[in-house]
Amino acid sequence: MGEQALSKTDKPEIDVNRRQVLGCMCVLGFSLPGMNEANAQDVALMLPPQVNDLIAYAYGDNAGKPVSAADLELESKQIFAFALDPASGMMRNGTRMNQLLLIRLDPAALAPATAARSANGLVAYSGVCSHTGCDVTDWNAEFKRFQCPCHESQFDPGNGAKVVGGPAPWQLAALPLKEIDGQLAVAGEFEGRLGFLQPGLSPFGI
Ligand code: FES
Repeated sequence: MGEQALSKTDKPEIDVNRRQVLGCMCVLGFSLPGMNEANAQDVALMLPPQVNDLIAYAYGDNAGKPVSAADLELESKQIFAFALDPASGMMRNGTRMNQLLLIRLDPAALAPATAARSANGLVAYSGVCSHTGCDVTDWNAEFKRFQCPCHESQFDPGNGAKVVGGPAPWQLAALPLKEIDGQLAVAGEFEGRLGFLQPGLSPFGI
């Protein structure tokens, strides 16, 4: 079946709670006396991907390095990425809801709406499974599907990451891409529903 577990060594520690609070303050327009430049940076890390942000490797030796369009081979396993603010050089990794899956597919095989969001076959989606929030780390090469290792939900990246197997309740949110001087960049806001279902609770996310 061509499934492989994704190595995510060197995954950075993320102080989510602190940054979520700061992110909420930003959304609500609050600032505190003494809110310094470091706090402002924390807020920037919580923002979702912004138009013209670059796309950067999330983990491993290349963490923080912008992804070039030529880096990804056709239909090879997805990589994890975050948006990167080109002005500050910081990745927007203050929340795992910003975690992205990135893969290159045959442009001719993409559904029309997916093709419109892609950069020459490169497509990006939320990396958080809509079922109970696991990282979508596996790739089913035979059927060209993302697969979640927790309960085996499958998503079709060539067609909007629609659910094609397993218990996931909705497709992965899609992030429009473009190229800027050979580097991948964000072309628009997330499309679709971010977050995941928590059994017995209200859905978490946006
Ligand atoms: S968390 Fe992904 S299938 Fe359950």
